[in-house]
Amino acid sequence: MSKIAVYPGSFDPITFGHLDIAARAAALFDELHIVVVHNPNKTPFFTSEQRVSLIEDSLSEAARFGRSIPPSTKIVIATLDSGLLVDYCRKVGAGALIKGVRNNADLEYELPMARVNRDLANVETVFLPADPGQGFVSSSLVRQVADLGGSVDKYVPAAVVRALKARAKA
Ligand code: PNS
Repeated sequence: MSKIAVYPGSFDPITFGHLDIAARAAALFDELHIVVVHNPNKTPFFTSEQRVSLIEDSLSEAARFGRSIPPSTKIVIATLDSGLLVDYCRKVGAGALIKGVRNNADLEYELPMARVNRDLANVETVFLPADPGQGFVSSSLVRQVADLGGSVDKYVPAAVVRALKARAKA
């Protein structure tokens, strides 16, 4: 039976930190769904469709820092605009969620969700420690630096740099 995992997030936008986690998760599973989840408490910077397309355009860049998505792993990029994440997991037959952990705050935020998801649907959460080189990068910091005219080339794939520049000009 193939092992399927779901890597959920806002990905607003995807960063090298996310890409690192996605590539490492892809090495552990037969199929990985990278799911752009709508968060009703956040006003998104990019639309769900833009975020999906930025992820599609960025996956190959994991090779830049020595990671790559194994060709044998099937990658699905999807959106979840409503409903529970565990329902999405059930629908696609996924038994695990992937979460990248940068620090204690991330773990404290994620643990209750991991417990609820296991309680609701027996879906396990696999925590992957963020690479020290990427550990301080977050989408919100990237948005802030880009908004104020700073360079984010070190933190996000080229497609995202282009999208941020296009947005700033619009
Ligand atoms: O990138 P983010 O914003 O930290 O991602 C947060 C996300 C989307 C992973 C989190 O909000 C989440 O898991 N949402 C799923 C909604 C859900 O099923 N909630 C109920 C049980 S946790």
